Amino acid sequence: MKIAVINGPNLNLLGRREPHIYGNDTLADIERMIRDEFEGAGVDLRFEQSNSEGELIDFVQAAELEWGCAGMIINPGAYSHYSYALGDAFDSLSIPIIEVHLSNTAARDEFRRRSVTAAGAIGKIEGLGWRGYVAAIRFLLERSA
Ligand code: DQA
Repeated sequence: MKIAVINGPNLNLLGRREPHIYGNDTLADIERMIRDEFEGAGVDLRFEQSNSEGELIDFVQAAELEWGCAGMIINPGAYSHYSYALGDAFDSLSIPIIEVHLSNTAARDEFRRRSVTAAGAIGKIEGLGWRGYVAAIRFLLERSA
């Protein structure tokens, strides 16, 4: 099973970006820890990151239409709070999408409480750090078994 794991703006700065909120692991560390979790599980993970809205939309479309992914995990970063275009991209796909946020957005600034993208996902996991990605991937694997 092929699953795309897509990260949005400023997540390339994990490890140095507000470590009191996002922790000390870099995005590369997180990718490695996720890959380790699923070693031998028969899952083909494709990781992408972009700071730009258009490129993220291209990734979301490509996951289903070009890469042949059976599911997608995406942390849209701040775009989740206002990108109707990214939300439309979610709605355009038929593969299951799970939105993940490292932090608990409900416990932060008011503007972070709203996701305009999550309605197009089958669910949302937040506040569990990098383990949220693992939980999301595990859910997709169990769902397709
Ligand atoms: C985030 C939460 C967003 O509000 C923020 O803009 C991010 C990261 C998270 O993973 O907790 O960039 O998506």
